[in-house]
Amino acid sequence: MVSLNIKELLAKEPLSQEVTVNGWVKTFRSNRFIALNDGSTINNVQCVVDFEQFDETLLRQINTGAALTVEGILVESQGKGQNVEIQVKDITVHGGADPETYPIQPKKHSLEFLREKAHLRVRTNTFAAVMRIRSALSFAIHKYFRENGFYYFHAPIITGSDAEGAGEMFRVTTLDGKNPPLDDNGNVDYKEDFFGKETNLTVSGQLEAEAYAMGLGKVYTFGPTFRAENSNTSRHLAEFWMIEPEMAFFDLDANMDLAEDFIKNVIMYILENCEDDLVFLEKRLLDEEKSKPQAERSEMALIDKLKFIVENRFKRLTYTEAIDILKNCKPNKKKKFQYIIEEWGADLQSEHERFLVEKHFKCPVILFDYPAKIKAFYMRLNEDGKTVRAMDILFPGIGEIVGGSQREERLDILKEKMAALDIPEEELWWYLDLRKFGTVVHSGFGLGFERLVQFTTGMGNIRDVIPFPRTPQNAEF
Ligand code: 4AD
Ligand code: MG
Repeated sequence: MVSLNIKELLAKEPLSQEVTVNGWVKTFRSNRFIALNDGSTINNVQCVVDFEQFDETLLRQINTGAALTVEGILVESQGKGQNVEIQVKDITVHGGADPETYPIQPKKHSLEFLREKAHLRVRTNTFAAVMRIRSALSFAIHKYFRENGFYYFHAPIITGSDAEGAGEMFRVTTLDGKNPPLDDNGNVDYKEDFFGKETNLTVSGQLEAEAYAMGLGKVYTFGPTFRAENSNTSRHLAEFWMIEPEMAFFDLDANMDLAEDFIKNVIMYILENCEDDLVFLEKRLLDEEKSKPQAERSEMALIDKLKFIVENRFKRLTYTEAIDILKNCKPNKKKKFQYIIEEWGADLQSEHERFLVEKHFKCPVILFDYPAKIKAFYMRLNEDGKTVRAMDILFPGIGEIVGGSQREERLDILKEKMAALDIPEEELWWYLDLRKFGTVVHSGFGLGFERLVQFTTGMGNIRDVIPFPRTPQNAEF
């Protein structure tokens, strides 16, 4: 008796051998054909039942969603659509699923409906495919860094510093919310809190990664990241996963080269290793697009889009060049943008980023050398005194997928920038130390993992590429 998962089994020649498979019923047709799936592949194995040989009460339990062990003989399939099938000899029903109450029936459910059933949605083809690709992407990321001389570094999740300076943080405290200790000025006294100071969930592991890059050379973080921004968009989560490489002796050009090579490499891994799931998701998207007006349909199918990314150079241009394009473009002149670009220094909104990527260049874009005043304090100041060595990578359908920079390694300039932004030196004394002892040119970036999964799977909403999304007013599961 051979016990294989369904993926392995479907790859076998029909050898007339006895097999055992475990899985959940996708469909049961004509009291004869069970489509069984165990999560190892998007494909089901067909199990053919001679119903006269089985008890009726047992057959009645074989509903969509029931967990079974099936024993039988693997044979060449009589029907179309599969090479092999199982002639069933024995069935064990571990747990049934009442069709009256089990929500995941074999019909099309909306993604919104499935978000309400986040604990069951991985039993649909779409979510199983997305989550298998998510898992494969994580592996490809670790593989890439390992093969390129990086060390995996675990940044702390609880921090005392606001790396991005955006202030959108979740507080971590054990103080009594109703009756917190107060200091002489009547403010909450965090000296009495668990850590003896104010602490938060991290918004980025970058600052700590910089410390480690100064000893290990090349490191990366890959961990959960938290932002309390109240943005209910299809691209924001309150809890998301970020990959943050940090490299000593890397300037901005080397940083951009690495980011581009890295993204291409992990997408190539998915093209090579997740074909069945991609084909399924591509078909799903094509069906979805049929209901959209022609103008809103995407020009490329999913797999072609991924190949396009792998095969073409990303367009690189400065923020200043981008502003020139945006100032003079049609939607800006005709006031079609919600935020009209009037002058140099404007922060780019996602409508502008998407115009550059989707309409103007029609390829991924790396923008660099942004105005200092719209970027974080740690980015390296250019000779012009007004731009910093920042870079954002913009993707079609997504907008910003990567944000990174060359870091300010000069102590005096870093101090000046912190002073200008009212960031107390005491708070980041250890970060300043890195500039006092063996400081060197260094760079890094952050890739939003869910945005990468969105792009790779073609899913429109970020809530559908993470198992249990955390968004404003939503932490049910
Ligand atoms: O551009 P961000 O804020 O950059 C940083 O945090 C730097 N410290 C990274 C670094 O240089 N080490 O965030 C990086 C990326 C964004 O480009 C985006 O893809 C993703 O993280 N991201 C989010 N993804 C989902 N939900 C959110 N709320 C996100 N905020 C940022
Ligand atoms: Mg950013």
